Amino acid sequence: MDVSLSTETRHFSYGGGRRIHIVQEDCIRFLQLLDDASVDVIVTDPAYSGMNSQLQLGHGRIVGQYKDKGTAEGKWFTEFEDSEENYVRFLKECRRVLKKETGHLYIMFDSFSLLSLGHLVRLYFDVKNVITWDKVNMGMGHYFRRRHEFIIFATNGNNRNIRHRSFPDVWRFKRIHNARYPTQKPVELFQAMLYASAQENFTVCDPFVGSGSSAIAAIKHNCHFIGCDISRKAVDTSAERIAHHIKYGQDPLQTKPASLPEEKVFWERGRKPRK
Ligand SMILES: C[S@@+](CC[C@H](N)C(=O)[O-])C[C@H]1O[C@@H](n2cnc3c(N)ncnc32)[C@H](O)[C@@H]1O
Repeated sequence: MDVSLSTETRHFSYGGGRRIHIVQEDCIRFLQLLDDASVDVIVTDPAYSGMNSQLQLGHGRIVGQYKDKGTAEGKWFTEFEDSEENYVRFLKECRRVLKKETGHLYIMFDSFSLLSLGHLVRLYFDVKNVITWDKVNMGMGHYFRRRHEFIIFATNGNNRNIRHRSFPDVWRFKRIHNARYPTQKPVELFQAMLYASAQENFTVCDPFVGSGSSAIAAIKHNCHFIGCDISRKAVDTSAERIAHHIKYGQDPLQTKPASLPEEKVFWERGRKPRK
């Protein structure tokens, strides 16, 4: 991986030469800076605007109303403009940067965006499954309180298997309570994706890096990582988190496991990778 990006890039290295780059940039412009076929796995959790406009119709908490204000407009972060046109541009760039032989893609969706945008993933990738993330505890919602999100898993052409055929498509990890960054996801969620799809020294990419949960998962899987976020706050938060994790081997933003003590997650089951 060789990236020469803007000055708004934070660089780290760990584990004898594995590299991490976090860039402050719009996701599409960032992907345009990357070489063709330079990434093995994309794991990402976009900030969809659709969910929030739907929630504004009810009384749900929206991203722009978090008490601790992150930007001058009183919002923590900008939402990605999730029109079909913009999403197609994003997917085309994802396909271009993903390698043909190894490229796997995991994109998170809420219920609204899965219905409005999820079908577009099939235009550019081989969609293999829709994984359900069961957050164990209920959140907000008027018509059945929300307890899940979705993850589309797709490959760049019919290229390779996941690590083992025994992995289920419902993943139970507790949501992060009192997160320092709104919408911070459990590191275990990204670990599950990487355990299934990454090998040591693979290059992992997250174009909506937020607080850096996916970067921490990449470090735990001995991978290179390149990520971006449009928000300065996100870049600062994830940079501090990565630096701390590299130095002390501890995650300052997620101190407790999100996995359930009574359930073994895949990487604890000791499955040998299939040939
Ligand atoms: C749902 S959050 C990601 C949270 C992250 N997975 C975590 O665990 O912390 C989505 C992120 O997308 C960022 N974002 C919004 N619009 C963007 C854009 N056009 N390009 C890149 N990042 C964007 C937001 O600033 C926000 O940090």
